[in-house]
Amino acid sequence: MKTVSICDLSQHEGKEVTLQGWNSNKRSGKGLYFIILRDGTGFCQCVVDEKNVSAGVFENAGKLTMESSCRITGTVVKDEKQIGGYEVRATGVEIISIAEEYPIAKKEHGVDFLMDNRHLWLRTQRQWAIMKIRNTLIFSLHRFFQEEGFVQMDAPIFTGNAVEGTSTLFETDFYGKPAYLSQSGQLYGEAMAMAFGKIYTFGPTFRAEKSKTRRHLSEFWMIEPEMAFYDLDMNMDLIEAMLKHLVRAVLLECREELKLINRDTTILENVVNKKFPRLTYEEAVRIIKGEQDVNGKNSIGSLEHDLASTQSRIAEVKKEILEREEKIAGGALKKGEINFNQNKIDQLKNELKDLEEDERNIPQWIQSAKSFEFGNDLGGSDETVITRLFDVPIMVYNWPHEVKAFYLKRDADPRWAKGVDVLAPEGYGEIVGGGERETDINLLIEKINEHKLPMQAFEWYLDLRRYGSVPHAGYGLGLERLIAWLCKLPHVRETIPFPRMYGRLEP
Ligand code: 4AD
Ligand code: MG
Repeated sequence: MKTVSICDLSQHEGKEVTLQGWNSNKRSGKGLYFIILRDGTGFCQCVVDEKNVSAGVFENAGKLTMESSCRITGTVVKDEKQIGGYEVRATGVEIISIAEEYPIAKKEHGVDFLMDNRHLWLRTQRQWAIMKIRNTLIFSLHRFFQEEGFVQMDAPIFTGNAVEGTSTLFETDFYGKPAYLSQSGQLYGEAMAMAFGKIYTFGPTFRAEKSKTRRHLSEFWMIEPEMAFYDLDMNMDLIEAMLKHLVRAVLLECREELKLINRDTTILENVVNKKFPRLTYEEAVRIIKGEQDVNGKNSIGSLEHDLASTQSRIAEVKKEILEREEKIAGGALKKGEINFNQNKIDQLKNELKDLEEDERNIPQWIQSAKSFEFGNDLGGSDETVITRLFDVPIMVYNWPHEVKAFYLKRDADPRWAKGVDVLAPEGYGEIVGGGERETDINLLIEKINEHKLPMQAFEWYLDLRRYGSVPHAGYGLGLERLIAWLCKLPHVRETIPFPRMYGRLEP
């Protein structure tokens, strides 16, 4: 028997096909079963009507518990209202395996429970959509760099030295010697760029920060291009072109996925069409501290305004929950009306959770924006404060050299290092870090000493300056941070199949 994939149903309209997959959800009506079958390529409602099938087939449909595997044969009918745009009117249902009672039922689960069941959670529509977007991004980034003439090369994962400082390294044992899991492929990328011109690496990256923020993973995937003969401006041009390319691909190829996760795509369309503002660190700090407005918006003023509207919305939501609860308790409602009100209450309670989180966070953001000290690195809340004012990513360049990595090139004004951070809008913050690299061997040696890094381990890196040193630049894009923003997720943990983070090594 030949089966077809749900993603190919459009080619079989009006015909009889056999699908194979899992029952992700089943409802029953009078003499009817509505099964949302999923097969990995998509989701499709299959209708089993007692009038149209044999008693045996109808009985099989009845036996399908949640996540049971099966084959369903039926006619493909176009129906825009249905998930995926098609429906299958079943003529046959064949059971492959009846599932035991499924732990992830429809009701709301806490995040910890879902994370413990990540191996099953991955099957849900929302996770499916996020992973499909991840896949599109990975494919598109290879396409982008390959078309731009870059060579894909791989940096080692076992390394003998620290790139971004020693505090965040996972140490392992390498034949009796300490080795560290790579926190960036950049230094190797620079060597490869001196050999191949324009290269990019794409691989797992490890950071041992004990951070429990919504932006931190212990293991994440980073794209790191490195280009000979590029300066800071060319680097920023490339970052902007790459991000536009990636977002365009997601808008074109992941329409259904974006709809499934309810992503408002206006911001994403801005990313494709508008130029990304480039701000110096000095300007960024003035904006954060509220000394300079953005399109008539002041950082502190708009936070205070948001806090006030958050608080009044909280009062509204609480009142509506109470009213609906009283209605239900009154006992005069029909079953359908009770369900309707209960669903509304659940939605309102979810909204309330988010609002109350904002109510806790905003005063802290205001506080840290007001007290920000010129010369410091931007923290998570500073990034949130500034990116809430923009509707496209911003590029912040020329940083105080003291707060940035040792390898960044010093500007003509020696206060600044030629680094660039790209901050995603809507409060998401840093998704890219990079810059032009120092070519002056003496300045590099000075910096390596200043950062107390073992000079011996960097001898090979210094060779790149000894033998035909050229201007060069590069950057690292954190894939999970990009996905979290594109999908507007509350946390990076949902952007990777099996997240590794502080406090989480399983499943
Ligand atoms: O800013 P970072 O630390 O820069 C570097 O590693 C450079 N060596 C890259 C380069 O120039 N080739 O990290 C780059 C990006 C960040 O902007 C962020 O998107 C991501 O990597 N990132 C993380 N993502 C998830 N969890 C973490 N703990 C991350 N740390 C960095
Ligand atoms: Mg950074």
